[in-house]
Amino acid sequence: MTTLGTPLSPSATRVMLLGSGELGKEVLIALQRLGVETIAVDRYENAPGQQVAHHARTIAMSDPDQLKALIEAEKPQLVVPEIEAIATPMLQQLEDAGVVRVIPTARAARLTMDREGIRRLAAETLGVPTSPYKFCDSLAELQAAIDGASGKAIGYPCIVKPVMSSSGKGQSRIDGPADMQKAWDYAMAGGRVSHGRVIVEGFIDFDYEITLLTVRALDAAGAVQTQFCEPIGHVQVSGDYVESWQPHPMAPAALQKAQQIAQAVTADLGGQGLFGVELFVKGEEVWFSEVSPRPHDTGMVTMATQWQNEFELHARAILGLPVDTALKSPGASAVIYGSVDATGIAFDGVAHALQVPGSEVRLFGKPESFVKRRMGVALAHAADVETARRNAKEAASRVRPRQA
Ligand SMILES: Nc1ncnc2c1ncn2[C@@H]1O[C@H](COP(=O)(O)OP(=O)(O)O)[C@@H](O)[C@H]1O
Ligand SMILES: [Mg+2]
Repeated sequence: MTTLGTPLSPSATRVMLLGSGELGKEVLIALQRLGVETIAVDRYENAPGQQVAHHARTIAMSDPDQLKALIEAEKPQLVVPEIEAIATPMLQQLEDAGVVRVIPTARAARLTMDREGIRRLAAETLGVPTSPYKFCDSLAELQAAIDGASGKAIGYPCIVKPVMSSSGKGQSRIDGPADMQKAWDYAMAGGRVSHGRVIVEGFIDFDYEITLLTVRALDAAGAVQTQFCEPIGHVQVSGDYVESWQPHPMAPAALQKAQQIAQAVTADLGGQGLFGVELFVKGEEVWFSEVSPRPHDTGMVTMATQWQNEFELHARAILGLPVDTALKSPGASAVIYGSVDATGIAFDGVAHALQVPGSEVRLFGKPESFVKRRMGVALAHAADVETARRNAKEAASRVRPRQA
């Protein structure tokens, strides 16, 4: 797709985002800047991305009939999933029928919406190193997997996660037999769909974890080329990202392995676009953890650190345009949480936050706040990552959400 049209005219290039949260909002802004006509879909009204798109649609994206009806009515050239909870078999069906192109591919969306699909592909088909793991459908199976009654023991400590969940929901660490029942119950309550299946993974005692943003974009000859951004370091609390920075220094051998893994996984998933490849690193050892076939929350830091941030890279790559993954400056991001359960909240202290050198604040505009909901992010660029991290956290702490 090398020709772009005029929005709201018969020549328009029409792109539909499935999921219009803070990440989708930035993809939509990047598309808007290229004169793309955008359709922002979410499950609730006035989602962040719906506030910046030409068209806003609200449906249950996990309902195949609603999804099909919307795509057939809107006829976008591209459908861009921003979240995992989508009726991906329907996307596959529509892609197979030639109705739409799904980004990066319908198969990638389907495999990554479920921890089992992507883990089996990476570890069993591609032979990429991962934590030891087993899938279990009951507490008894979980027990057997950990104790080794059915093959090699996963042992302690280990981590239990619902196969369909994100942002650490339903995920917990098991240090001994006493934790098992609680971890199982927690996983059952936290999964996106209650089909009662979990993955148990051996705990990797990594030195650090990174997101390696990997872009599959067309080169001048029209062939897909894989490019990497500088590694992004991050801190997760209860499986949810609170802070990230770029670049994260890596031993050359570890970086090479990380890029090889990212190359192998993204090449198999195929298509065009940006991927967030999550990796654990200990010395020169690297393990694949998971991958998002779309911009990654920890990659919000690139709004302060790259010439083309991850959202612009995604927008360009899916449209068949060239990309530049070069770093502009070291920088960091820190999450601003809602800290209250309320609708239409107010944010005090933004001016104070922006007095922090090199800082920026993004408020997502979510209609409803929860104590632990991500409502904004502070960014900072600086001469070095340590200063940037300090400044991003300082700026985030100065923004004070409250009931309006
Ligand atoms: N096997 C593991 N060993 C050590 N830490 C882990 C393991 N699996 C997950 N974690 C930690 O939990 C975080 C969230 O896990 P992840 O599988 O990425 O779930 P989510 O899909 O919710 O992001 C990871 O970023 C990492 O910090
Ligand atoms: Mg993750």
